[in-house]
Amino acid sequence: MNINLAVVKGDGIGPEIVEEGEKVLNKIGEMYGHTFTYTDILAGGCAIDATGEPLPAESVKIAKESDSVLLGAVGGPKWDTLPGHLRPERALLGLRSELGLFANVRPAKLYDALADACPLKPEISKEGLDLVIVRELIGGLYFGERGRRDAGEMGEEAFDELKYNVKEVERIGRVAFEMARKRDRKKVTSVDKANVIETSRLWRETMHKLAQEYPDVEFEDMLVDNCAMQLVRNPGQFDVIVTENMFGDILSDEASMTTGSIGMLPSSSLGETTRGMYEPIHGSAPDIAGQNKANPIATILSCAMMLRDSFNLLDEAKCIESAVAKVLDDGFRTGDIMDEGGKLLGTKEMGDKIVSYLTK
Ligand code: IPM
Ligand code: MN
Repeated sequence: MNINLAVVKGDGIGPEIVEEGEKVLNKIGEMYGHTFTYTDILAGGCAIDATGEPLPAESVKIAKESDSVLLGAVGGPKWDTLPGHLRPERALLGLRSELGLFANVRPAKLYDALADACPLKPEISKEGLDLVIVRELIGGLYFGERGRRDAGEMGEEAFDELKYNVKEVERIGRVAFEMARKRDRKKVTSVDKANVIETSRLWRETMHKLAQEYPDVEFEDMLVDNCAMQLVRNPGQFDVIVTENMFGDILSDEASMTTGSIGMLPSSSLGETTRGMYEPIHGSAPDIAGQNKANPIATILSCAMMLRDSFNLLDEAKCIESAVAKVLDDGFRTGDIMDEGGKLLGTKEMGDKIVSYLTK
């Protein structure tokens, strides 16, 4: 296959980790006879510096013409004081909505080799943890109307609108049910706040109707506050969690930490087509940028997700995932997952190690 990727190296550790992702893809290309072509596009802080805006139109155009987008990380303290519409985060939100990527999939899996890195008590972590958060990505609070107004003697007031329609809930619900169908436990937990907010009541009604089309999938609702608690009390109970944009943002950070390091977790964002955007779920880590310290595994695993989800290259994806698991089993670590007896590697060396473990 010839695969054209638009690449957002981004800010902070972004360029370093993306380089390792490309290294792994190139080796996979050699092994399986694919060609990857990369077109760098500007987005985030570096785009603000170069052009004055976080997401230049040219970047969106190239992303739309690509087969998929690979993204490192955007943002950093340098741009934190800019007004909302000029922040680097707008680039991420803009790419997601321009490409119609409504379904964000964030798997949280505890690797055997990293069991000690799990901050939960051993009696909890020994039950294992292998869940996926399916987050609605282009609706809800992050895309509603917002603004400021005068509230008289109460001073200035800010507002953010939260709305969801049936179609938006159905399409993300389907992603979750279809995914659960392909997994061993076949269970969907729909997370909402239906005891208080109206969007959640519509969400719940819609999910219940949808669940009837999937009698082979076990289905339950859970309130978001309870879910936050259950994720640390008994994460082993979850298989597929489906939820709205903001709840998914928060719960996916929580779930990632239970796996030991946010530096390990990949994500995919997909819409109606096979063009997706693949990125690690961690941020740009400006404190360690440029020091060859960042963990490239989340980005490398995002490349594996891309091969599977966008290009249906199942063997190639498995090849990368097995190499990562073996490298960890053999005790190789980056700083964020370092443990007693671990062999510490830098970003580049970890990338090289994973490449050397790729076998058909
Ligand atoms: C994430 C991030 C983004 C989000 C920010 C940077 C806009 O936190 O991908 O989870 O909230 O979606
Ligand atoms: Mn987030």
